[in-house]
Amino acid sequence: SANCRTFVAVKPDGVQRKMVGEIVRRFERRGFKLVALKLVQASEDLLKEHYWDLRSKPFYRELVSFMSSGPVVAMVWEGLDVVKTARKMLGETNPADSLPGSIRGDYCVEVGRNVIHGSDSVESAQKEIHLWFHPNELQSWENSSSRWIYN
Ligand code: RTP
Ligand code: MG
Repeated sequence: SANCRTFVAVKPDGVQRKMVGEIVRRFERRGFKLVALKLVQASEDLLKEHYWDLRSKPFYRELVSFMSSGPVVAMVWEGLDVVKTARKMLGETNPADSLPGSIRGDYCVEVGRNVIHGSDSVESAQKEIHLWFHPNELQSWENSSSRWIYN
């Protein structure tokens, strides 16, 4: 339903490449509601936990190191099926497989510099939101255009 939430992060490459505004714009224009947003330098400990499921992958250490190399923009977005839709907006993990029109399909070429993260399930979204945000950082507000987005 419309109260589904996902965690999205503009990675250090996306921040360096000035993609923050474009990414926020795409989620706003799609009709999703911004619930939280902050620019953070994530610790390696936080990132190890964030990427725990990938701990046995050969690229795990490099991934954690890159993600902690500079600030990232952490966000929570809310709306109907937002976890699934956000993944489509991002594109595939490998930008080469991402269709034009998706964020990765429009703005990057390599898997290790794919600009943006999005939770891959409702369950991981809940875990990631809890990991990256204090409950008091999640804003509760009424979207005045919601009746033009939902029927
Ligand atoms: P994300 O978590 O960032 O939204 O990406 P994803 O679900 O599409 O991909 P995932 O399997 O969760 O991998 C997390 C990130 O690790 C890097 N990666 N590198 N060298 C490689 O083969 C490789 N595979 C994945 C990517 O930055 C990917 O987004
Ligand atoms: Mg993932």
